[in-house]
Amino acid sequence: MADNNGSTNGRLNGGPSQELAIETNDLWRIYKLGSQEIPALKGVNLRIPQGSFVSLKGRSGSGKTTLLNCLGGLDQPTKGDILIMGQDISKWRERQLTTWRREQVGFIFQSLGLLPALSAYENVELMLRMNGVRGKERRRRTLECLELVGLTKWIDHRPYEMSGGQQQRVAIARAVANNPQMIIADEPTGELDSRTAAEILGLFKSLVKDRHMTMLMATHDSLSDEFVDQVLRLKDGLIMTHEEFLAEEEAERAAQEAAMAASAEPA
Ligand SMILES: Nc1ncnc2c1ncn2[C@@H]1O[C@H](COP(=O)(O)OP(=O)(O)O)[C@@H](O)[C@H]1O
Ligand SMILES: [Mg+2]
Repeated sequence: MADNNGSTNGRLNGGPSQELAIETNDLWRIYKLGSQEIPALKGVNLRIPQGSFVSLKGRSGSGKTTLLNCLGGLDQPTKGDILIMGQDISKWRERQLTTWRREQVGFIFQSLGLLPALSAYENVELMLRMNGVRGKERRRRTLECLELVGLTKWIDHRPYEMSGGQQQRVAIARAVANNPQMIIADEPTGELDSRTAAEILGLFKSLVKDRHMTMLMATHDSLSDEFVDQVLRLKDGLIMTHEEFLAEEEAERAAQEAAMAASAEPA
């Protein structure tokens, strides 16, 4: 296969022996607004090995959220295949997707979606309740997940009684409660200060490693580069190759230098 799956920055070589968690082939998502068509994804080809932590970067409007929603089964592509752990979810019906999502995917959004009237414990437990986990087992797993994110002392607190970083930890505990194969996070550190963001990124990294999960995270955070195995860059609905990215960086640097030189000239 030609290397316009393009995605790697050279650090990961998904060889043939490595099982793929995520594979897409010519993935398109075209939104229709009245008579207008807005292509948000224009033929995305991805190969993401199991157990890797991957970030998805790109300007606002480049298609990050659309791609995550398609991969997590929250949205359906207009065209193309999506294989998650080898299963093609792109043609599934809503009911099948709903069950699969609940059991196999953990979601973390920037707006955390915690229920304000529920404690940290109850927010995590609810996820297990929805999956039919009962009694003692549910309690054990809820406490285990809250411990995993370092919130054992905060289990009875409601979201508004916690800091932004602590709330994010609750959302993470909830996302991993079902022990999903894949975690999808959309700008999960967007609202956090850089120190807290680094803590959360470190937590993600260890989760991926210890639980052999695959995690895909849309982010603007430049901090994230040192935590992830691979950086994917989207531009106008397409994954940029590393060469394209370098060329763009170079062009931006040149433009900046030209602007500085112009402003330094006497009027
Ligand atoms: N529900 C929608 N209806 C119409 N256009 C949309 C919708 N969601 C996103 N878009 C458009 O698709 C493009 C990609 O958006 P999005 O995936 O949200 O990008 P990002 O997450 O990188 O900011 C943008 O041009 C956006 O305006
Ligand atoms: Mg987005």
